[in-house]
Amino acid sequence: MQRIHNVTQLADLDDDALARCYAYPRHLERPWVRANFVNSIDGAFTVDGVSAGLGTDADHRVFTLLRELAEVIVIGAGTVRAENYGGAHPDPDRRRAHFQHGIGGSADGTPPPIAVVTASARLDPASKFFTDAEVAPLIITTAHADKDQVAALEQAGAQIVVAGEAAIMPSALVRVFAERGLHRVLCEGGPHLFGQLAEADLVDELCLSTAPMLVGGAGGRISLSASTFDTPMSRKQLVLAEDGTVLARWARR
Ligand SMILES: NC(=O)c1ccc[n+]([C@@H]2O[C@H](COP(=O)([O-])OP(=O)(O)OC[C@H]3O[C@@H](n4cnc5c(N)ncnc54)[C@H](OP(=O)(O)O)[C@@H]3O)[C@@H](O)[C@H]2O)c1
Repeated sequence: MQRIHNVTQLADLDDDALARCYAYPRHLERPWVRANFVNSIDGAFTVDGVSAGLGTDADHRVFTLLRELAEVIVIGAGTVRAENYGGAHPDPDRRRAHFQHGIGGSADGTPPPIAVVTASARLDPASKFFTDAEVAPLIITTAHADKDQVAALEQAGAQIVVAGEAAIMPSALVRVFAERGLHRVLCEGGPHLFGQLAEADLVDELCLSTAPMLVGGAGGRISLSASTFDTPMSRKQLVLAEDGTVLARWARR
């Protein structure tokens, strides 16, 4: 029987071994964009409008680890609004340990900021996204956003970055991170943001959890963009969980 490379059982991996599986490349000189999504077997990315219904323990373990490793988490405003996003609170000791191993995290254990991409700045300054944040969120917005709304988000503790006129080009978004030395980027969606990054060929890797369920419905998919494209990807690793979740890591060829 032929052995398939880089296929592992999740049960065989302790936290350090799993972290090595998801290590960012060392010595990055530009932002490395990693995206993370969960999907059902039949391709749904939400159940009743949110991803929580697809979450399994295995997916949660990887979701938590990817946050521990990242230097910045980026999401579209649609996801913040739909999922009632809070701040990121990864374990500070784990972040320090990842940093010492050169695979991500932070030297002092501080969490990564969450950057929200929004043309409108239409976010609720009283929401837990702002009240629950340990580090100032980055609001990456446009010159066309409502000025009072932007001021309210700044008042709520956010750092405002204007990176476009009416919309933010994917390359301008990545430049925002490059200028701040934030090289280990984790994009947690949603499909509109991810689709634009992928269309611009700016996604270095995709971590995709497939939850062992069929959900049907008329929902969309994890990547939405104005036009189709054809980006070949290589399967870097497959981790199989006992509950049936398939944890794949795909990298741009
Ligand atoms: N299964 C999963 O792993 C997963 C992960 C993430 C999200 N989701 C689901 O995805 C759904 C939300 O998807 P979505 O595609 O609507 O959300 P999205 O990509 O998170 O957000 C779209 C919004 O982001 C802003 N945006 C995106 N690209 C922009 C650009 N180039 N310039 C300026 N602003 C930009 C706009 O915000 P403004 O309207 O404020 O201008 C836009 O309306 C939710 O149901 C969520 O549960 C699932």
